[in-house]
Amino acid sequence: MSDFSLQLTDAAKKIENEFDSAVKCHSDSYLSLREAMLYSLKIGGKRIRPIMLLEFFKLCGGNDNAAINFAVALEMIHTYSLIHDDLPCMDDDDFRRGKPACHKAFGEANAVLAGDALLTEAFGFAAKTQGVKPENIVKAIGVLSKFSGVNGMIGGQIIDIAIEGKKVDADVLKEMYLLKTGALIKAAAKIGCILADREDLSVHAEKFAENIGLAFQIVDDILDVCGDEATLGKPVNSDAKNEKNTFAVLFGVEKCKTIVNELTNSAIDELKYFNADTTFLTELALYLAGRKF
Ligand code: IPE
Ligand code: IPE
Ligand code: MG
Ligand code: MG
Ligand code: MG
Repeated sequence: MSDFSLQLTDAAKKIENEFDSAVKCHSDSYLSLREAMLYSLKIGGKRIRPIMLLEFFKLCGGNDNAAINFAVALEMIHTYSLIHDDLPCMDDDDFRRGKPACHKAFGEANAVLAGDALLTEAFGFAAKTQGVKPENIVKAIGVLSKFSGVNGMIGGQIIDIAIEGKKVDADVLKEMYLLKTGALIKAAAKIGCILADREDLSVHAEKFAENIGLAFQIVDDILDVCGDEATLGKPVNSDAKNEKNTFAVLFGVEKCKTIVNELTNSAIDELKYFNADTTFLTELALYLAGRKF
């Protein structure tokens, strides 16, 4: 394994080690709910958002493991967004992260509630952060709420659903991508800076994340068209099935690849404002542009 792959695996493990303590239930009657939450959290996932949060925290001079609860909270919110995204009333996809989607494994009602619970518990877990100025914890919770909510990920998801089967231009699509996928990635970058008490750097972190977020969703679209289902761990051709508006439909796959490379280079360019070693984030950006899952 390359140094980068090892770093990536180690960083993912650090997040995964916290899942059991992040999802606690005080009554046996909730055990099936806990099982569904932990199932979706643990079955896989690249852990890109929490890894980015921890890396920006480190770049900004943050100490030790103080940002870990926010990193885990962000992965909990991302996982809830996937559980709900796969429901029959949304994208109606049966596989996620290489396993049956939460609603296929536990039924729809449990999947809805597991998503609700992951979202809710994420804020409680983030609030338990120690080793960071209390005012920065409050600020970071506000950012987590804003970028997950109506003016963030959920806002993007509702646009995605509302424009199914309709003709829209690239500006509408770009706005939708910046919200449904870009917002949680932006939250990762901004929260990392805030917790390290370097909000002054968050403008560059956010520009990095905006470019990465757009590129990330465009790659997701490309993989939906040309990816390998087993490698991807989720169904291909889901977008065509749902008459989704995507960059792949609008521009074609080849042009999309060029756009992804341009966005990735613009993202990497923002890292020059950080007075620290940005090798890992640069490699992460390049890895995401060329990913196969
Ligand atoms: C999938 O996100 C949903 C999008 C926002 C495109 P990821 O590709 O990060 O999914 P996991 O977490 O690795 O499963
Ligand atoms: C989902 O976009 C973005 C979310 C906020 C969950 P997609 O619907 O394209 O994600 P996948 O392809 O199902 O992972
Ligand atoms: Mg979707
Ligand atoms: Mg989907
Ligand atoms: Mg997709």
